[in-house]
Amino acid sequence: MVSIKGYSLYPLTLILRQYSTTMNSFDKNFWSSRYADQDTGWDLGHVSGPMQYLMDTLQDKQTKILLPGAGNSYEAEYLHHKGFTHVTVLDIASAPLKTVQERVPTFPAQYLIEQDFFQHEGEYEVILEQTFFCALDPVLRLSYVQQMHRLLQPKGMLAGVLFGVPLNRDKPPFGGSQEEYETLFSPYFDLHTLIPCVYSENSRAGRELLFTFFKK
Ligand SMILES: C[S@@+](CC[C@H](N)C(=O)[O-])C[C@H]1O[C@@H](n2cnc3c(N)ncnc32)[C@H](O)[C@@H]1O
Repeated sequence: MVSIKGYSLYPLTLILRQYSTTMNSFDKNFWSSRYADQDTGWDLGHVSGPMQYLMDTLQDKQTKILLPGAGNSYEAEYLHHKGFTHVTVLDIASAPLKTVQERVPTFPAQYLIEQDFFQHEGEYEVILEQTFFCALDPVLRLSYVQQMHRLLQPKGMLAGVLFGVPLNRDKPPFGGSQEEYETLFSPYFDLHTLIPCVYSENSRAGRELLFTFFKK
């Protein structure tokens, strides 16, 4: 545990973690309203090309997988129908979780979790990212990386797509660049792959980076 002159910094890190989460302007109310207003332009209505590509590399049906900020989670449905049994769907808003349960009645309810990602505890082998990072206030980016690191088993994989171009400045989606991601993630992850995505949906073509990072 980190300490200065014998004083543990653990309580301070807990306070900072709580603070960084509560200062997020795009909170549960913001996202719940987006679902209530059907203002969900990010929702593709099906599994995206890059996510299918990544999910098809997973072999072990027992793999503990987390889908954070999962929304209507066509990925969870895809994995479920392929026989994966430990897929956790996490979202701060209740509406998409209800939609997943209605759309996929056989999906186990205990794996649909309504919670703030930053408060979530668990240990996963694989975490899949798609349009969740870009949905968060950029002040939370380091907290996101640290929370992903905490939630993964040793050598666990964080994989998915990140926008590789600048986007909005005031509200989601927030963009980024390859250089920014290298700087942000490399203290915590081995950056195995971070390349222009060739499997993108037409609406995102040329704007996404495909990545596979492994917990250091
Ligand atoms: C842009 S949507 C993306 C949904 C899904 N990943 C997709 O690709 O369609 C962002 C999602 O993240 C959820 N979200 C935002 N902040 C969150 C947080 N702090 N914890 C958990 N979920 C969050 C929102 O409710 C929303 O469903």
